[in-house]
Amino acid sequence: MLRTHTCGELTINDAGKEVTLSGWVFRSRDQGGMIFIDLRDRYGVTQLVFLNPAKAVDSGQSSAVSQKLYDDVKTLGREFVIKATGKVQKRSKSNPNLSTGEIEILVESLELLNASKTPPFTLEDETDGGDELRMKYRYLDLRRDVVKNNLLNRHKVAQAIREYLDGQGFADVETPFLIKSTPEGARDFVVPSRVNQGEFYALPQSPQTFKQLLMVAGFDRYYQIVRCFRDEDLRADRQPEFTQIDCEMAFVEQEDVLNMFEGMVKHAFKKVRNIEFGAFPRMTFADALKYYGNDKPDTRFEILLHEITDVAKGKNFNVIDGAEYVGAIAVPGASEYTRKQTDELTEFVKRSQIGAKGLIYVKYAVDGTLKSSVDKFYTPEDLKKWADAAEAKPGDLILVVAGDLTTSRRALSELRLELGNRLGLRDKNVYKPLWVLDFPLLEADKDTGGWVATHHPFTSWKKEDEHYFETDPGKIRANAYDLVINGVELSSGSIRIHDRSKQEKMFSTIGLSKENYEKKFAFILNAFEYGAPPHGGIAFGFDRFCSICVANEDYIREFIAFPKNNAGRDIMMDTPSTLSDEQLKELGLKVEIPK
Ligand code: AMO
Repeated sequence: MLRTHTCGELTINDAGKEVTLSGWVFRSRDQGGMIFIDLRDRYGVTQLVFLNPAKAVDSGQSSAVSQKLYDDVKTLGREFVIKATGKVQKRSKSNPNLSTGEIEILVESLELLNASKTPPFTLEDETDGGDELRMKYRYLDLRRDVVKNNLLNRHKVAQAIREYLDGQGFADVETPFLIKSTPEGARDFVVPSRVNQGEFYALPQSPQTFKQLLMVAGFDRYYQIVRCFRDEDLRADRQPEFTQIDCEMAFVEQEDVLNMFEGMVKHAFKKVRNIEFGAFPRMTFADALKYYGNDKPDTRFEILLHEITDVAKGKNFNVIDGAEYVGAIAVPGASEYTRKQTDELTEFVKRSQIGAKGLIYVKYAVDGTLKSSVDKFYTPEDLKKWADAAEAKPGDLILVVAGDLTTSRRALSELRLELGNRLGLRDKNVYKPLWVLDFPLLEADKDTGGWVATHHPFTSWKKEDEHYFETDPGKIRANAYDLVINGVELSSGSIRIHDRSKQEKMFSTIGLSKENYEKKFAFILNAFEYGAPPHGGIAFGFDRFCSICVANEDYIREFIAFPKNNAGRDIMMDTPSTLSDEQLKELGLKVEIPK
């Protein structure tokens, strides 16, 4: 038997018991008369104590171990795997931070199960290992409590979600990975076919079309916690392969879907974090952009964007008079910001990722006086009008960006988030969920000038907006919704098109020729002709769900066992990697030129 107990379960109630534990040497301390080893496994840490036989004789005690064994203990390095047998005893000084902190094991026998090289970084919560090193030795990184707990919590979230969806009658159905491209807006990862040379599969960006086909098939309620693959630029909250909680329901309207999945989020947060939510607020896409400058507002703090275009124009200041949009935010209690601080904020919005031309500020002092960076053009009376339009109060700093609508809103949005960070308003203990509704169905494609689907081309639209197809397609609102928590887009979904002619209309609006869409999507168009029920659904980014639910951050790598780095590489396996000439030939990817 390799163990009678784990390293996390013995308490004072076990005192006197003879036990065997197995695990890793976490820390050891040689105190001359005795050696302490903290033995670690998945469940916790237990202190082992070895009495020095030589010293024990001197002090009249009898040691449980031989001199040889005691000398062996001295050679045990960090992360050696050992099995120790001995008696549970009360510690002379207990450690309140450990569940096993009141006891220790007085070891009688020891077996070395495996040696270990010295790990290249410490396996403490605060490690000295950089990201690359940790990823290269991910199996060691995963021994660290923080990372291990993230993954165990991920498991708990999955359990809670399965429990909820199962309770609501959702069936878990697997869908294929070797498929034809699904249009989710990223590039596909492709897999060459050996048997059908010159042809390729695509890995699914999501199971979107399959879940819709399952609705046509009559499954009524489907879910899957499923891997998706997207060849896109990576960020903290994006991985090339990630997991979705993918769901679909038949015979539903938007309201049914929102209620069902609000319930799922509440259930998971309650189960995993014991956090309870009231009803989730809702906001239209248009309002999200107007007041927060983006479609995934962090509503933990109320610094809102205010348009002051009309109030500000007409004083011969080019920057403002020539702008499509002038917007302002009032930063509470920041009227005393120094020149250095306002310069920093100006540099912040001018960064290439944001691209604003500059930043105007107005200091609205506590005594009510107003001073600005544009005093040459505006009197205090003018500035007071700005302050009123921005709903600023004495003591606030008013920050103003002028320019084209999209860039200016983006700049103000980033600025409010940055100030939220600086002012400590993005509290890790606060969760603010929000449904964002009424997304536009289509957006203009910057490159081609044509239309692309904002969500994906299977999303239906509001009946009352249908007439815009002929006049102004950008105005059509979709039956689409996102769930946002603290500024992170956790999920997206929509009520789908379930009618062939509507689906064809959508395809042609986004510029696909009949020949093209029939080649790509004949299977789903045909399916719609065999009694497709009205249906809709949603998919949550499961990695994001876990990182938000467990840690309230959106750095998803820490919640994925074996993630890729920012260049899409797995540094541990050293992949992607090249193929041998043999493999390339076999796949028809290398043509042999006859000599
Ligand atoms: P969408 O493309 O919005 O919708 O994806 C749904 C959710 O998946 C998460 N997500 C990602 N997470 C990590 N890394 C990525 N690269 C990544 N890309 C997306 C996000 C996002 O909200 N089929 C539709 C859903 C539907 O209509 O039902 C879809 O995939 O949290």
